Amino acid sequence: MVKKCLFPAAGYGTRFLPATKAQAKEMLPIVNKPLIQYGVEEALEAGMQYIGFVTGRTKRAIADHFDISYELENEISGTSKEKFLESVRYVMNNGIFSFTRQPEMKGLGHAILCGETLMGNDPFGVILADDLCLPEPLNGDGVMKQMAKIHSETGCSVVALMEVPKETISKYGVIAGKDLGDGRYQVTDMVEKPAVEDAPSNLAIIGRYILTPDIFDIIRKTPPGKNGEIQLTDALLTQARQGKVIGYKFKGLRFDCGSVKGFVEATNYVYNNLYKE
Ligand code: UTP
Repeated sequence: MVKKCLFPAAGYGTRFLPATKAQAKEMLPIVNKPLIQYGVEEALEAGMQYIGFVTGRTKRAIADHFDISYELENEISGTSKEKFLESVRYVMNNGIFSFTRQPEMKGLGHAILCGETLMGNDPFGVILADDLCLPEPLNGDGVMKQMAKIHSETGCSVVALMEVPKETISKYGVIAGKDLGDGRYQVTDMVEKPAVEDAPSNLAIIGRYILTPDIFDIIRKTPPGKNGEIQLTDALLTQARQGKVIGYKFKGLRFDCGSVKGFVEATNYVYNNLYKE
């Protein structure tokens, strides 16, 4: 069983400036809950109790969010407002949190390597909190829970896939693979942000992974790729060539909350379907 989950959250979030000048993109709320809390709830639902964050400067609010605020507790204890803290209290009571920093933005692969001491020698989930994933139907399993099942059956690394329109493919890592049925693919090739004409398929990788711990040694040996960053996709390709990566077309909804458009769509969806006054 996968018990750990890593949250790389060190990026600058430039698409949300000036809102992200002095605060973390991951703390922006979708209605009344910060993006990162949705991700942590998804990890806990999948049985991943040990939560590691890779953060950076200007991200201290993330650590505060998952810690007790005595003044606040004291102020609203016994009042009708207590119900607003229920969800975060649940998360704090059920998760075990640890933090490290990525001092320089050298790419997602590098951010994950920074989390090595938090994840140790076990398989672990990775959630990019700016990709908000919600179950569909609403009472269905979360994406990480679906992926954990595949990992426990295969022992492989698992990447979440979504079919995207051809013209948007160059925003994503893209796979080629053999269709195994049931939404599963044996990944044979992966390319980070390909030109439309070079994309091996329309199956894009989104921000959910389960990684086996040999990924750390592979990342260490992976030279900087696209944009001079150490790309997770390049490291995963090494595992894929060993037949150790399953792609999974998940059941559920995904909102790209790293973009303003996706953020607004997510806000509307949550307000109309999940939010209770
Ligand atoms: P993005 O490139 O989408 O995030 O990285 P960003 O840099 O924060 O946003 P923009 O493009 O400037 O608006 C995807 C995810 O990987 C993490 C980011 O925090 C985000 O969750 N990441 C990326 C790191 O933690 N470190 C890196 O060096 C790069």
